[in-house]
Amino acid sequence: MKQVRSAAVIGSGVMGAAIAAHLANAGIRTLLLDIVPQTLTEEEAAKGLTLESPQVRSRIARAAIARLRETQPAPLYDPDFAGRITPGNLEDDLFRLSEADWIIEAVVERLDVKKEVLARVESVWTPGTMVSTNTSGISVEAMAAHLGEAFRTHFAVTHFFNPPRYMKLVEIVPTAVTNSDVTARLRTVCERQLGKGVVIGKDTPNFIANRIGTFCMLVTLEEMERRGLSVEEVDAVTGPVIGRPKTATYRMLDLIGLDTLLHVVDNVRERSGEPQEQAMFTRPPLLEEMVKRGWLGGKAGQGFYKKTKGSGGVSNISVLDPKTMEYRPSVKSATSAALEAAKTAKGTAGKIKALLAAEPNDRLAGFTWAVLKRTLLYSAAQLGTIADSIVDIDRAMRWGFSWELGPFELWDALGLEKTMRRMEAEGETVPDWIRQWVADGKSSFYKHDQLKTFYLSDGKYREMESLPEEISITNLQAAGRTVLENEGASLVDLGDDVVCLAFHSRSNAIGGDILSVIHQSAEEVSRNWRGLVIANEGRNFCVGANLMLLLMEAQNGEWDEVEEIIRLFQSSMMRLKQLERPVVAAPHRMTLGGGVEVCLPADRIIHSPETYFGLVETGVGLIPAGGGCKEAAAMADELACGGDLQPHLNAKFEAIAMAKVSTSGYDVRRVGWFRRQDAVILRQDARVAEAKRAVLAMDASGYSAPPPLEEQRIRVAGREGKAVLQLAVQSMRYGSSISEHDALIGNRLAHVLAGGDVPPGSNVSVQYLLDLECEAFLSLCGEPLTQARMQHMLATGKPLRN
Ligand code: NAI
Repeated sequence: MKQVRSAAVIGSGVMGAAIAAHLANAGIRTLLLDIVPQTLTEEEAAKGLTLESPQVRSRIARAAIARLRETQPAPLYDPDFAGRITPGNLEDDLFRLSEADWIIEAVVERLDVKKEVLARVESVWTPGTMVSTNTSGISVEAMAAHLGEAFRTHFAVTHFFNPPRYMKLVEIVPTAVTNSDVTARLRTVCERQLGKGVVIGKDTPNFIANRIGTFCMLVTLEEMERRGLSVEEVDAVTGPVIGRPKTATYRMLDLIGLDTLLHVVDNVRERSGEPQEQAMFTRPPLLEEMVKRGWLGGKAGQGFYKKTKGSGGVSNISVLDPKTMEYRPSVKSATSAALEAAKTAKGTAGKIKALLAAEPNDRLAGFTWAVLKRTLLYSAAQLGTIADSIVDIDRAMRWGFSWELGPFELWDALGLEKTMRRMEAEGETVPDWIRQWVADGKSSFYKHDQLKTFYLSDGKYREMESLPEEISITNLQAAGRTVLENEGASLVDLGDDVVCLAFHSRSNAIGGDILSVIHQSAEEVSRNWRGLVIANEGRNFCVGANLMLLLMEAQNGEWDEVEEIIRLFQSSMMRLKQLERPVVAAPHRMTLGGGVEVCLPADRIIHSPETYFGLVETGVGLIPAGGGCKEAAAMADELACGGDLQPHLNAKFEAIAMAKVSTSGYDVRRVGWFRRQDAVILRQDARVAEAKRAVLAMDASGYSAPPPLEEQRIRVAGREGKAVLQLAVQSMRYGSSISEHDALIGNRLAHVLAGGDVPPGSNVSVQYLLDLECEAFLSLCGEPLTQARMQHMLATGKPLRN
């Protein structure tokens, strides 16, 4: 299908600018238009500009593009991608819409404004151009009613979730006359060019995700009031413990804004013809009262939570008591025995089951069941109305609200029939199609068979189409394609004689088990396979080495043990580096410390767009010692091409000493770990397939392994290079920008990266640099301040500055 090369976005507010940014992320040239300002700013007047000056006329879009570079979280993969967006205005640049392959309207959520803007778009529209609107819930038919037939065949809703770079969901809602080719092309562009996940909605108020998400919030509020629970109690059970984001219910509501939620609630009530639905979507008196008082959430400084600065500038969080409408200090440990049991259970389904098992005696468990039950029943009742497929509903909630399990997936996890029987016993009405399905002897909505997944559709199991170029390691393992495994990692057959090394330890931290699988995998691959992919489906690729064991050994003074751990790590990385077959790593999201050291030996690294990649060991008082420093020295040597090593060495030193982490796959280049042979892909979900393809390509073009280690030499900067780095450390210490301990770590790092006290330009062996790394690492492990940093990281997940 033809790619979109140029696009136009109309409306440069929160969503329009961020959508334009994501189009730019995908390499699409984008025109961003907004209205012409009616008045001059003081600055413009002072410069002698008038309302006719071009920069004034396009000021709104121009300012929006400038803001993209500062907005957090960053909407752009690389701030320079802003250069792919051209500002303009709806009067002077309207004609330029005819040059775009895709026009996206993202102006204010008002039907009259949207209709007027779309009519203007139609006046310059070229047949063939796709047009979509980014509305949260206005009827697509109402927006298109006054437009010509031909235009309407090319028009649909594309509802991006905020922020578009990070949220996977795009809901596409066609009009009754939208060409199926146009819907299919919009879908393909969103999926393949923008890396999004698409669901097809219907022209119903607030479409799929916001409809169910809002219902869930209303039910949560109602059950909280009915059961007299506190805000903290509700947030404690509606967050990660049931597979929902940390913001749970009320922190999320504060983020969205209570006024926005009421707007969504009104929209459903006003547009729904169903009395039951209208009753459910009435404005909760508590929210109305809060909005009346201006307690809208974060943007107003207070909502369900309120942050105040106490004495000494310490922030205090207070929380609303809905009974008194007063704020009181927030209580941290809203908990129960059941909640604690749930927290330690494995997997989302395991946690929810553990929590619900405490019923009927535990009030938090009772509350959770009530909320989940009502959400499941509501979702089931909406099938056919808001979406045609349970898959679209589940995906919408996973991708748009970051639920780990969509309603039907959760129902399956709790047991379809068991849960249904319980609902019926409690007097609930379960939709006929579910009762019939169970009566037919079916035990789940979804069924997995070998590499295929089937889902319930019109009383039959229908095969789920897999998205283009996605390989699921989990499905392959379920289909018995595991070659070898232990607790920490598996080697999985990807087909075509390529295998994948996938971590699955806690947080994918690297410990002895993973290192052991690496060694076994290397043996296996060198004998039986065409090449190796290193990738996994964890939340993060790898957060680094397992610190717990290291800290214990260090605290006990077991230095031989510590050295053994380092040597094992190094030898595992060298085994990957020297493998006789091609190796391609495909990291995603957090790839830190040891995670980076696993990638650097690969022949190629295929970065996902969302990759946060960095050697961060100094944060725990250490330096990279799994070959990371050696790789950094080798990269500096390669980049210098026989010339001056120092600038390249400085850059690598800075990246490690300051524990720099990339903010995207593209940003890996700025941090300094991107190599000529590496690449960034547009779609995170295609990373395994892309890495496999790269392995096959390398194999087909005649892969030759690196020369034996003994023959490899790395040119280092030696004592002079080290002196330059140490001088920089000293001046930072004098300027008090780093601590004494930072300076100590910096000096050890300088020693290793420069290759120790050898003459400048010496060619040293790989083993020599590995020995330097090991020695420095061991000595730092013995430092009490380093041990304090490790301890702090293990306890809080955050680095300690000491
Ligand atoms: P916004 O208020 O930040 O931006 C609206 C933009 O429309 C402004 O730049 C404004 O100058 C422009 N505008 C106003 N009147 C106009 C006119 N007559 N002609 C052309 N442009 C005009 O709004 P936001 O949040 O960006 O929302 C835009 C659309 O996206 C809305 O339909 C909204 O429902 C939808 N949406 C918003 C989300 C959010 O989280 N903010 C999430 C998903 C969808």
